[in-house]
Amino acid sequence: MAYPIALYIHMTCVGISISLFTLRGFWMLLDHPLLAHRIVKVAPHIIDSALLGSAIYLAININQYPFIDNWLTAKLIALFVYIGLGIIALGRGKTKRIRLVALVLAVLTFGYIVSIASTHNPRGILSVWID
Ligand code: HEM
Repeated sequence: MAYPIALYIHMTCVGISISLFTLRGFWMLLDHPLLAHRIVKVAPHIIDSALLGSAIYLAININQYPFIDNWLTAKLIALFVYIGLGIIALGRGKTKRIRLVALVLAVLTFGYIVSIASTHNPRGILSVWID
């Protein structure tokens, strides 16, 4: 697979992943029954597998890896934080207030991951102000 295609797949999955997550977040806040629909539960796993698969392909191609290159280490750790916050936001959180806070933090974490990706710097967007 050519590198630009993998990057395209990766970035498309990034877009779909955050859109779907935000939509599910709204449904969680509204107690919408669609949140429990089978497709809505399965689709994120398919998208996230493609996102991770393309990430591995890209990393191998540019010969940069988590725990070797700082920006990819930061990206992977932030991804785990995002997943954890997502689990709290979409169900595990005991109250709606906790789920809402987790939802907002998850979206901010996602933005941070994107900023790490575009700067290749573990500080991401913060690297504009912090050297
Ligand atoms: C939610 C998780 C992730 C998001 C939101 C994300 C986002 C992005 C974005 C927006 C780009 C394009 C950057 C650009 O060309 O300006 C990118 C590229 C890339 N991502 Fe991810 N990514 C995620 C997970 C990962 C993971 C887990 C890895 C590897 C461990 C990874 C490895 C890469 C690599 C190697 C590139 C190519 C960088 C380049 O061509 O210079 N990504 N990612």
